Amino acid sequence: MKKYILILSILSISNQKGNQMNSNLQDIQAIILAAGRATRFHTDKTKLAYPICGQAMVLFPVKLLQQLHIPTIVVVGYQQELIKNIISNENITVDFVTQEKQEGTGHAVACSKHLWDRDYILIMNGDVPFVSQETITTLYNNHVQNNAVMSFITSSNPDETAKAYGRVITTDGNISIIEAKDFKGNINEHNCVNAGIYLINKNFLQDYIATLNTNNASKEFYITDLVKIASEHNLPVTTTDAPFNTVRGINTFQELAVAEHIKLTALINYWMSQGVRFSFPQNVYLDLDVTIGQGSYVGNGVHLSGKTIIGQNCIIKEFSSLNNAILEDNVTIHSHTVIDNTYVKENAEVGPFARLRSNVTIGQECVIGNFVEVKSSTIDTATKAKHLSYIGNATIGSQVNVGAGTITCNYDGVNKHQTIIKDHAFIGSNNSLIAPITIGNNAFTAAGSTITSDVPDDALAIARSHQTTKYDYAKKLKHQTTLLPDQNKNRLDEFSFVGARIIHPDNQEDEQ
Ligand code: UD1
Ligand code: MG
Repeated sequence: MKKYILILSILSISNQKGNQMNSNLQDIQAIILAAGRATRFHTDKTKLAYPICGQAMVLFPVKLLQQLHIPTIVVVGYQQELIKNIISNENITVDFVTQEKQEGTGHAVACSKHLWDRDYILIMNGDVPFVSQETITTLYNNHVQNNAVMSFITSSNPDETAKAYGRVITTDGNISIIEAKDFKGNINEHNCVNAGIYLINKNFLQDYIATLNTNNASKEFYITDLVKIASEHNLPVTTTDAPFNTVRGINTFQELAVAEHIKLTALINYWMSQGVRFSFPQNVYLDLDVTIGQGSYVGNGVHLSGKTIIGQNCIIKEFSSLNNAILEDNVTIHSHTVIDNTYVKENAEVGPFARLRSNVTIGQECVIGNFVEVKSSTIDTATKAKHLSYIGNATIGSQVNVGAGTITCNYDGVNKHQTIIKDHAFIGSNNSLIAPITIGNNAFTAAGSTITSDVPDDALAIARSHQTTKYDYAKKLKHQTTLLPDQNKNRLDEFSFVGARIIHPDNQEDEQ
């Protein structure tokens, strides 16, 4: 008699024709196993909190089940507060169950027993970020159609380095999953692996979960042993095969890097299909939530993260990093620019080597040039700050010129103060604007000024010391130094103007 039914359903990412399988998933309740210590990461932090393209690993199965409207239990344990916060911060409602001691996947499932109230229990490892809706619905359909008590996803994995997976073994009509550590034969000859995604009849699970034992190499309760138990009781087990990349698990930093690479490649391919040009796609980083408008260009080494939104026909040049940035259409970001939490309006130009951070708005047609930092400030239309400035806690009007080297002195050591510069003002080069301060409409400040009080509309403020010019003094100075002994000659370069204080060729007053 056939003791299990093998259903081979090949799933493919490219075959996403929507969910036509007429599934009735409301009989399902899910359990995500997220309590493990993740020892193979060799860090203190649970692997499930590490991001893949900006999203914590555990959120991938959690969000998938949300999309499928499957009520979900998350078993937490190691660093449970961290996992709970990650899920709660997304406003996703799940039931949390604590596994006090991490005694294996079978034990983790058992911890949630008191909450099982649907006919089918879907169990997923927390470290499988690529599972699709199609995988779950196919698993369910195969399970129901074949009247199975237990079904699970298998995959062919010929990668000899991926040794950790449980091997799916069929002998004499029996099917079982043997963990790599317990496998006696040559593991590389058995490529069919367990993906860690199971659909189990609630009644079967209730009856047999307590029969699991720890007679294995890890001395843990394995959920995988239920397959052998069902098979040995002549109860039908089905398997559904899926491409490895849709079900791969993550147990090491190497596997995390591979997973992120796969996710990135898919994201970049998607944005290319939407009309975005990447000059060097293999060297760009994108988070999942980033959106990029048609006709935009993304240069080599660009890093786009958080909820960054790039408009149409924008240019993001090489090695710029944008986090939670919004760019309207036709914005140019020159190379090596770092932008965080900033809104840039149409046709503005920023960088190279600019830094915008902490709630900044840059108006249409503005030019924020090289080595300019803007923090917590709003800048209106067509204003220019093209070189070497710090603009912090400022409100700047339209068509203002901020000269090179301008600094808003916003911090007195205790508080931050506001600088207001009104429309059409002209701030000369190398100004220090001591906040709080207001520069009026059409006002001018002279280069090199330290502006300590408000400048009214249309006024000119000059706040710098007068220059004294001594005719022919330099010539005399040079003559005098040529008469000096050799050891003092060498010191001339060092002195520069200071030298004038030491040498008094014709008793002129000391120079300032
Ligand atoms: C597991 C399977 C293996 C399968 C692989 C697929 C078992 C015994 N083995 O191995 O057959 O090929 O997944 O990726 O199930 N967890 C708990 N509590 C625990 C232990 C683990 O909640 O006490 C959680 C982990 O946080 C993780 C999941 O269970 O999310 C799986 O644990 P992991 O250690 O990754 O199992 P694998 O060795 O990958
Ligand atoms: Mg794993």
